[in-house]
Amino acid sequence: MEVLSKENIDIEKIRAQFPILQKSINGKPLVYFDSGATSQKPIQVIDAINAYYKNQNSNIHRGVHTLSSEITVAYENARTTIQKYINAKRAHEIIFTSGTTDSINLVAHSFGKKYITAGDEIIISAMEHHSNILPWQLLCEEKNAVLKIIPVSESGELLLDEYKKLLNAKTKLVAATHVSNTLGTINPVKKIIEMAHQFNAAVLIDGAQAIPHTKVDVQNIDADFYCFSGHKAYGPTGVGILYGKEKWLNEMPPYKVGGGTIKTVSFSKTVYADLPLKFEAGTPHIAGGIGLAAAINYINAIGIENINSHEHEILTYATERLLSINGLKIIGNAKNKAGVISFVVNDLHPLDIGTILDKYGIAVRTGHHCTQPLMEHYCVPGTVRVSLAVYNTKEEIDSLIEALNKAIKMLQ
Ligand code: ALA
Repeated sequence: MEVLSKENIDIEKIRAQFPILQKSINGKPLVYFDSGATSQKPIQVIDAINAYYKNQNSNIHRGVHTLSSEITVAYENARTTIQKYINAKRAHEIIFTSGTTDSINLVAHSFGKKYITAGDEIIISAMEHHSNILPWQLLCEEKNAVLKIIPVSESGELLLDEYKKLLNAKTKLVAATHVSNTLGTINPVKKIIEMAHQFNAAVLIDGAQAIPHTKVDVQNIDADFYCFSGHKAYGPTGVGILYGKEKWLNEMPPYKVGGGTIKTVSFSKTVYADLPLKFEAGTPHIAGGIGLAAAINYINAIGIENINSHEHEILTYATERLLSINGLKIIGNAKNKAGVISFVVNDLHPLDIGTILDKYGIAVRTGHHCTQPLMEHYCVPGTVRVSLAVYNTKEEIDSLIEALNKAIKMLQ
Protein backbone atom coordinates (compact mmCIF):
# COMPACT_ATOMS: atom_id res chain seq x y z
CA MET A 1 0.00 0.00 0.00
CA GLU A 2 1.13 3.51 -0.77
CA VAL A 3 2.56 5.24 2.27
CA LEU A 4 1.45 8.83 2.51
CA SER A 5 3.99 11.47 3.38
CA LYS A 6 3.84 12.36 7.05
CA GLU A 7 3.14 16.07 6.84
CA ASN A 8 0.97 15.97 3.81
CA ILE A 9 -1.87 13.51 3.98
CA ASP A 10 -4.27 13.76 1.12
CA ILE A 11 -7.78 13.49 2.53
CA GLU A 12 -9.41 13.23 -0.89
CA LYS A 13 -7.18 10.27 -1.67
CA ILE A 14 -8.04 8.72 1.67
CA ARG A 15 -11.77 9.30 1.11
CA ALA A 16 -11.53 7.54 -2.25
CA GLN A 17 -10.28 4.45 -0.41
CA PHE A 18 -13.62 4.15 1.45
CA PRO A 19 -16.15 2.85 -1.10
CA ILE A 20 -19.17 3.63 1.09
CA LEU A 21 -18.35 7.34 1.08
CA GLN A 22 -19.39 7.45 -2.60
CA LYS A 23 -22.92 6.58 -1.54
CA SER A 24 -25.92 8.92 -1.48
CA ILE A 25 -28.41 8.86 1.36
CA ASN A 26 -31.83 10.37 0.69
CA GLY A 27 -30.44 11.88 -2.50
CA LYS A 28 -27.56 13.65 -0.69
CA PRO A 29 -23.90 12.67 -0.43
CA LEU A 30 -23.35 10.59 2.68
CA VAL A 31 -21.77 12.58 5.51
CA TYR A 32 -20.70 10.01 8.07
CA PHE A 33 -20.30 11.33 11.60
CA ASP A 34 -20.93 8.07 13.46
CA SER A 35 -17.46 6.58 13.52
CA GLY A 36 -17.65 6.31 17.32
CA ALA A 37 -20.31 3.64 16.78
CA THR A 38 -18.39 2.01 13.97
CA SER A 39 -15.91 3.42 11.49
CA GLN A 40 -16.17 2.89 7.76
CA LYS A 41 -13.77 0.43 6.14
CA PRO A 42 -11.12 1.20 3.54
CA ILE A 43 -10.79 -0.96 0.43
CA GLN A 44 -7.52 -2.39 1.80
CA VAL A 45 -9.46 -4.01 4.69
CA ILE A 46 -12.33 -5.17 2.50
CA ASP A 47 -9.85 -6.70 0.03
CA ALA A 48 -7.92 -8.49 2.80
CA ILE A 49 -11.13 -10.11 4.06
CA ASN A 50 -12.19 -11.03 0.51
CA ALA A 51 -8.77 -12.50 -0.22
CA TYR A 52 -8.99 -14.67 2.88
CA TYR A 53 -12.33 -16.17 1.87
CA LYS A 54 -11.39 -16.43 -1.81
CA ASN A 55 -7.88 -17.86 -1.57
CA GLN A 56 -6.89 -18.74 1.98
CA ASN A 57 -9.99 -20.08 3.74
CA SER A 58 -9.04 -22.81 6.16
CA ASN A 59 -8.95 -23.33 9.93
CA ILE A 60 -5.97 -22.30 12.04
CA HIS A 61 -3.82 -24.22 14.54
CA ARG A 62 -5.46 -27.48 13.44
CA GLY A 63 -4.14 -28.77 10.14
CA VAL A 64 -0.94 -29.98 8.53
CA HIS A 65 -2.19 -29.15 5.06
CA THR A 66 -0.83 -26.16 3.17
CA LEU A 67 -3.88 -23.88 3.44
CA SER A 68 -4.13 -24.42 7.17
CA SER A 69 -0.42 -23.85 7.72
CA GLU A 70 -0.43 -20.68 5.63
CA ILE A 71 -3.43 -19.14 7.34
CA THR A 72 -2.04 -20.05 10.77
CA VAL A 73 1.08 -18.07 9.92
CA ALA A 74 -1.02 -15.16 8.62
CA TYR A 75 -3.20 -15.15 11.75
CA GLU A 76 -0.19 -15.21 14.06
CA ASN A 77 1.38 -12.43 11.99
CA ALA A 78 -1.81 -10.44 12.58
CA ARG A 79 -1.29 -10.92 16.32
CA THR A 80 2.26 -9.59 15.97
CA THR A 81 1.03 -6.58 13.97
CA ILE A 82 -1.31 -5.72 16.82
CA GLN A 83 1.37 -6.38 19.44
CA LYS A 84 3.66 -3.89 17.71
CA TYR A 85 0.91 -1.31 17.24
CA ILE A 86 0.26 -1.07 20.98
CA ASN A 87 3.86 -1.90 21.92
CA ALA A 88 3.06 -4.98 23.98
CA LYS A 89 6.15 -6.82 25.16
CA ARG A 90 5.04 -10.26 23.98
CA ALA A 91 2.77 -11.52 21.18
CA HIS A 92 1.06 -13.96 23.56
CA GLU A 93 -0.15 -11.02 25.66
CA ILE A 94 -2.50 -10.26 22.75
CA ILE A 95 -5.74 -12.25 23.03
CA PHE A 96 -8.23 -12.19 20.18
CA THR A 97 -11.80 -11.66 21.42
CA SER A 98 -15.04 -10.65 19.74
CA GLY A 99 -14.63 -7.02 20.81
CA THR A 100 -14.12 -4.65 23.72
CA THR A 101 -17.22 -5.91 25.55
CA ASP A 102 -16.01 -9.49 25.31
CA SER A 103 -12.52 -8.46 26.48
CA ILE A 104 -13.89 -6.70 29.57
CA ASN A 105 -16.16 -9.63 30.37
CA LEU A 106 -13.20 -11.98 30.09
CA VAL A 107 -11.26 -10.01 32.69
CA ALA A 108 -14.27 -9.53 34.97
CA HIS A 109 -14.98 -13.28 34.98
CA SER A 110 -11.46 -14.62 35.07
CA PHE A 111 -9.65 -12.02 37.18
CA GLY A 112 -12.79 -11.76 39.32
CA LYS A 113 -12.91 -15.50 39.95
CA LYS A 114 -9.28 -15.62 41.02
CA TYR A 115 -8.72 -12.36 42.85
CA ILE A 116 -11.99 -10.78 44.05
CA THR A 117 -13.47 -11.73 47.40
CA ALA A 118 -16.07 -10.24 49.76
CA GLY A 119 -15.22 -6.72 50.88
CA ASP A 120 -12.80 -6.04 48.02
CA GLU A 121 -13.25 -2.82 46.10
CA ILE A 122 -13.40 -2.12 42.37
CA ILE A 123 -13.26 1.44 41.05
CA ILE A 124 -14.77 2.59 37.76
CA SER A 125 -15.56 6.10 36.54
CA ALA A 126 -18.81 7.96 36.01
CA MET A 127 -18.08 8.32 32.30
CA GLU A 128 -17.86 4.59 31.52
CA HIS A 129 -19.75 2.97 28.69
CA HIS A 130 -22.26 0.40 30.02
CA SER A 131 -19.86 -2.29 28.81
CA ASN A 132 -17.34 -1.11 31.38
CA ILE A 133 -19.95 -0.83 34.16
CA LEU A 134 -22.12 -3.92 33.98
CA PRO A 135 -19.43 -6.66 34.17
CA TRP A 136 -18.06 -5.01 37.33
CA GLN A 137 -21.49 -4.44 38.81
CA LEU A 138 -22.35 -8.13 38.30
CA LEU A 139 -19.01 -9.23 39.71
CA CYS A 140 -19.47 -7.08 42.81
CA GLU A 141 -22.98 -8.46 43.34
CA GLU A 142 -21.71 -12.03 42.99
CA LYS A 143 -18.71 -11.58 45.26
CA ASN A 144 -20.11 -9.09 47.74
CA ALA A 145 -17.49 -6.63 46.65
CA VAL A 146 -17.92 -2.87 46.56
CA LEU A 147 -18.15 -0.77 43.39
CA LYS A 148 -16.87 2.79 43.71
CA ILE A 149 -17.23 5.56 41.16
CA ILE A 150 -14.76 8.32 40.21
CA PRO A 151 -16.88 11.46 39.68
CA VAL A 152 -16.74 13.72 36.63
CA SER A 153 -16.46 17.52 36.60
CA GLU A 154 -18.92 19.78 34.79
CA SER A 155 -16.50 20.08 31.88
CA GLY A 156 -16.24 16.30 31.61
CA GLU A 157 -12.93 15.51 33.29
CA LEU A 158 -12.31 12.87 35.92
CA LEU A 159 -11.79 14.34 39.39
CA LEU A 160 -8.45 12.82 40.27
CA ASP A 161 -8.47 14.20 43.83
CA GLU A 162 -11.70 12.29 44.43
CA TYR A 163 -10.18 9.22 42.79
CA LYS A 164 -7.25 9.42 45.17
CA LYS A 165 -9.67 9.31 48.12
CA LEU A 166 -11.32 6.15 46.76
CA LEU A 167 -8.07 4.17 46.54
CA ASN A 168 -7.00 2.05 49.49
CA ALA A 169 -5.58 -1.36 50.37
CA LYS A 170 -8.92 -3.02 49.54
CA THR A 171 -8.86 -1.73 45.92
CA LYS A 172 -8.23 -4.73 43.69
CA LEU A 173 -9.02 -3.31 40.29
CA VAL A 174 -9.62 0.02 38.55
CA ALA A 175 -11.43 0.08 35.19
CA ALA A 176 -11.52 3.31 33.22
CA THR A 177 -12.02 4.46 29.69
CA HIS A 178 -9.13 5.99 27.76
CA VAL A 179 -11.42 8.20 25.64
CA SER A 180 -15.06 8.83 26.53
CA ASN A 181 -17.41 7.76 23.74
CA THR A 182 -19.90 10.45 24.80
CA LEU A 183 -17.74 13.39 25.91
CA GLY A 184 -14.60 12.82 23.87
CA THR A 185 -12.49 13.38 26.99
CA ILE A 186 -9.02 11.83 26.77
CA ASN A 187 -8.33 10.61 30.27
CA PRO A 188 -4.85 10.75 31.84
CA VAL A 189 -4.59 6.98 31.90
CA LYS A 190 -0.91 6.86 32.77
CA LYS A 191 -1.60 8.86 35.93
CA ILE A 192 -4.71 6.80 36.76
CA ILE A 193 -2.68 3.61 36.47
CA GLU A 194 0.26 4.96 38.46
CA MET A 195 -2.07 5.97 41.30
CA ALA A 196 -3.73 2.53 41.36
CA HIS A 197 -0.38 0.74 41.31
CA GLN A 198 0.60 2.51 44.51
CA PHE A 199 -2.06 0.30 46.11
CA ASN A 200 -1.13 -2.78 44.04
CA ALA A 201 -4.45 -2.61 42.22
CA ALA A 202 -4.61 -3.81 38.62
CA VAL A 203 -5.94 -1.43 35.98
CA LEU A 204 -8.05 -2.20 32.92
CA ILE A 205 -8.30 0.48 30.26
CA ASP A 206 -11.20 0.50 27.80
CA GLY A 207 -9.46 1.70 24.66
CA ALA A 208 -12.35 1.26 22.22
CA GLN A 209 -12.51 4.97 21.41
CA ALA A 210 -8.78 5.63 21.72
CA ILE A 211 -7.16 3.12 19.38
CA PRO A 212 -8.36 4.73 16.13
CA HIS A 213 -7.36 8.25 17.21
CA THR A 214 -4.27 8.28 19.34
CA LYS A 215 -0.99 6.47 19.85
CA VAL A 216 -1.28 3.79 22.52
CA ASP A 217 1.76 2.30 24.23
CA VAL A 218 0.66 -0.23 26.81
CA GLN A 219 4.13 -0.54 28.31
CA ASN A 220 4.55 3.20 28.64
CA ILE A 221 1.22 3.67 30.44
CA ASP A 222 1.87 0.40 32.31
CA ALA A 223 -1.67 -0.91 31.76
CA ASP A 224 -2.44 -4.32 33.22
CA PHE A 225 -5.23 -4.82 30.69
CA TYR A 226 -6.11 -2.83 27.57
CA CYS A 227 -9.18 -3.60 25.45
CA PHE A 228 -10.38 -2.50 22.04
CA SER A 229 -12.54 -3.45 19.07
CA GLY A 230 -11.57 -3.83 15.44
CA HIS A 231 -14.63 -2.19 13.96
CA LYS A 232 -14.07 1.27 15.45
CA ALA A 233 -10.54 1.28 14.01
CA TYR A 234 -11.35 0.75 10.32
CA GLY A 235 -11.44 -3.03 10.83
CA PRO A 236 -14.25 -5.59 10.78
CA THR A 237 -16.94 -6.17 13.37
CA GLY A 238 -16.82 -9.24 15.61
CA VAL A 239 -13.13 -9.06 16.43
CA GLY A 240 -11.34 -7.29 19.25
CA ILE A 241 -8.33 -7.46 21.48
CA LEU A 242 -7.55 -8.01 25.09
CA TYR A 243 -4.01 -7.05 25.95
CA GLY A 244 -3.01 -8.38 29.35
CA LYS A 245 0.30 -8.50 31.15
CA GLU A 246 1.68 -12.00 31.04
CA LYS A 247 1.92 -12.14 34.84
CA TRP A 248 -1.88 -11.75 35.15
CA LEU A 249 -2.93 -13.81 32.14
CA ASN A 250 -0.77 -16.74 33.24
CA GLU A 251 -2.39 -16.79 36.66
CA MET A 252 -5.97 -16.18 35.54
CA PRO A 253 -8.21 -19.22 34.95
CA PRO A 254 -9.67 -19.87 31.48
CA TYR A 255 -12.93 -18.02 30.82
CA LYS A 256 -14.62 -19.75 27.88
CA VAL A 257 -13.26 -23.25 27.33
CA GLY A 258 -13.38 -25.63 24.40
CA GLY A 259 -11.44 -26.64 21.30
CA GLY A 260 -8.08 -24.95 21.06
CA THR A 261 -7.74 -24.05 24.73
CA ILE A 262 -6.10 -27.27 25.88
CA LYS A 263 -2.91 -29.31 25.89
CA THR A 264 -4.54 -32.58 26.94
CA VAL A 265 -8.05 -33.60 27.99
CA SER A 266 -9.01 -36.62 30.00
CA PHE A 267 -12.01 -37.24 32.24
CA SER A 268 -9.81 -37.09 35.30
CA LYS A 269 -7.76 -33.97 34.41
CA THR A 270 -7.47 -31.38 31.67
CA VAL A 271 -4.29 -29.41 31.11
CA TYR A 272 -4.89 -26.03 29.54
CA ALA A 273 -2.81 -24.52 26.76
CA ASP A 274 -0.28 -21.76 27.27
CA LEU A 275 -1.04 -18.18 26.34
CA PRO A 276 -2.66 -16.97 24.19
CA LEU A 277 -4.64 -20.12 23.29
CA LYS A 278 -5.82 -20.65 26.87
CA PHE A 279 -8.23 -17.75 26.28
CA GLU A 280 -9.17 -18.43 22.66
CA ALA A 281 -11.83 -21.15 22.68
CA GLY A 282 -13.30 -22.45 19.45
CA THR A 283 -12.58 -21.44 15.88
CA PRO A 284 -11.86 -17.74 16.06
CA HIS A 285 -13.00 -14.99 13.69
CA ILE A 286 -10.08 -15.68 11.36
CA ALA A 287 -11.19 -13.23 8.67
CA GLY A 288 -11.65 -10.71 11.48
CA GLY A 289 -8.08 -11.11 12.70
CA ILE A 290 -6.75 -10.77 9.15
CA GLY A 291 -8.98 -7.75 8.55
CA LEU A 292 -7.94 -6.11 11.81
CA ALA A 293 -4.27 -6.46 10.92
CA ALA A 294 -5.05 -4.88 7.52
CA ALA A 295 -6.76 -2.01 9.36
CA ILE A 296 -3.75 -1.49 11.62
CA ASN A 297 -1.47 -1.54 8.57
CA TYR A 298 -3.76 1.06 7.01
CA ILE A 299 -3.51 3.31 10.08
CA ASN A 300 0.26 2.84 10.14
CA ALA A 301 0.57 3.79 6.49
CA ILE A 302 -1.17 7.11 7.12
CA GLY A 303 0.44 7.55 10.54
CA ILE A 304 -1.63 7.75 13.73
CA GLU A 305 -0.12 11.19 14.48
CA ASN A 306 -1.40 12.45 11.12
CA ILE A 307 -4.85 11.01 11.77
CA ASN A 308 -4.80 12.62 15.19
CA SER A 309 -3.81 16.05 13.94
CA HIS A 310 -6.30 16.00 11.06
CA GLU A 311 -9.15 15.01 13.39
CA HIS A 312 -8.09 17.67 15.85
CA GLU A 313 -8.31 20.33 13.17
CA ILE A 314 -11.83 19.18 12.27
CA LEU A 315 -12.77 19.00 15.96
CA THR A 316 -11.68 22.59 16.56
CA TYR A 317 -13.48 23.83 13.47
CA ALA A 318 -16.67 21.89 14.28
CA THR A 319 -16.68 23.09 17.89
CA GLU A 320 -16.41 26.74 16.84
CA ARG A 321 -19.11 26.45 14.20
CA LEU A 322 -21.50 24.51 16.46
CA LEU A 323 -21.09 27.04 19.27
CA SER A 324 -22.24 29.78 16.90
CA ILE A 325 -25.71 28.20 16.86
CA ASN A 326 -28.13 29.81 19.28
CA GLY A 327 -29.21 27.55 22.13
CA LEU A 328 -26.67 24.82 21.33
CA LYS A 329 -24.76 23.47 24.30
CA ILE A 330 -21.81 21.12 24.03
CA ILE A 331 -21.74 18.40 26.69
CA GLY A 332 -18.10 17.61 27.36
CA ASN A 333 -15.58 20.44 27.24
CA ALA A 334 -12.45 18.77 28.56
CA LYS A 335 -9.12 20.38 27.72
CA ASN A 336 -7.88 17.18 26.15
CA LYS A 337 -10.45 15.83 23.70
CA ALA A 338 -10.63 13.37 20.83
CA GLY A 339 -12.93 13.84 17.83
CA VAL A 340 -16.26 13.48 19.61
CA ILE A 341 -18.79 16.28 20.11
CA SER A 342 -22.02 15.70 22.02
CA PHE A 343 -24.56 18.48 22.09
CA VAL A 344 -28.12 19.46 22.91
CA VAL A 345 -30.12 22.32 21.44
CA ASN A 346 -32.54 24.02 23.86
CA ASP A 347 -35.14 21.42 24.76
CA LEU A 348 -35.28 19.80 21.32
CA HIS A 349 -35.19 16.04 21.40
CA PRO A 350 -31.89 14.65 20.05
CA LEU A 351 -33.78 11.90 18.21
CA ASP A 352 -35.79 14.48 16.24
CA ILE A 353 -32.63 16.35 15.31
CA GLY A 354 -30.90 13.12 14.24
CA THR A 355 -33.89 12.07 12.14
CA ILE A 356 -33.94 15.38 10.26
CA LEU A 357 -30.16 15.35 9.75
CA ASP A 358 -30.52 11.93 8.16
CA LYS A 359 -32.88 13.45 5.58
CA TYR A 360 -29.88 15.56 4.53
CA GLY A 361 -27.63 12.49 4.31
CA ILE A 362 -25.91 13.21 7.63
CA ALA A 363 -25.38 10.26 9.97
CA VAL A 364 -25.00 11.12 13.67
CA ARG A 365 -25.76 9.09 16.76
CA THR A 366 -28.50 10.23 19.13
CA GLY A 367 -29.52 9.01 22.57
CA HIS A 368 -27.67 8.07 25.73
CA HIS A 369 -24.73 6.41 23.93
CA CYS A 370 -24.75 3.52 26.44
CA THR A 371 -23.74 5.98 29.17
CA GLN A 372 -26.97 6.49 31.11
CA PRO A 373 -25.26 7.46 34.40
CA LEU A 374 -23.48 10.25 32.50
CA MET A 375 -26.79 11.49 31.05
CA GLU A 376 -28.17 11.58 34.57
CA HIS A 377 -25.12 13.58 35.69
CA TYR A 378 -25.76 16.22 33.02
CA CYS A 379 -29.56 16.04 33.48
CA VAL A 380 -30.21 15.38 29.78
CA PRO A 381 -32.20 12.52 28.23
CA GLY A 382 -29.58 12.15 25.52
CA THR A 383 -27.42 14.10 23.11
CA VAL A 384 -26.67 14.37 19.43
CA ARG A 385 -23.18 13.01 18.89
CA VAL A 386 -20.83 13.83 16.06
CA SER A 387 -17.87 11.48 16.02
CA LEU A 388 -15.01 11.95 13.61
CA ALA A 389 -12.58 9.84 11.64
CA VAL A 390 -9.73 10.48 9.23
CA TYR A 391 -12.10 10.79 6.24
CA ASN A 392 -14.10 13.73 7.60
CA THR A 393 -13.69 17.24 6.18
CA LYS A 394 -14.48 20.85 7.05
CA GLU A 395 -16.92 20.92 4.12
CA GLU A 396 -18.85 18.13 5.83
CA ILE A 397 -19.00 20.22 9.00
CA ASP A 398 -20.41 23.07 6.89
CA SER A 399 -23.11 20.68 5.58
CA LEU A 400 -23.88 19.67 9.17
CA ILE A 401 -24.29 23.26 10.30
CA GLU A 402 -26.54 24.07 7.36
CA ALA A 403 -28.74 21.01 7.97
CA LEU A 404 -28.77 21.59 11.71
CA ASN A 405 -30.02 25.16 11.26
CA LYS A 406 -32.83 23.85 9.07
CA ALA A 407 -33.67 21.14 11.60
CA ILE A 408 -33.83 23.65 14.44
CA LYS A 409 -36.08 25.93 12.39
CA MET A 410 -38.42 23.02 11.63
CA LEU A 411 -38.57 21.80 15.22
CA GLN A 412 -38.90 25.10 17.08
N1 ALA B 1 -20.04 2.16 21.87
C1 ALA B 1 -20.44 2.60 20.59
C2 ALA B 1 -20.80 4.05 20.59
O1 ALA B 1 -20.43 4.78 21.45
C3 ALA B 1 -21.47 1.74 19.99
O2 ALA B 1 -21.49 4.50 19.71
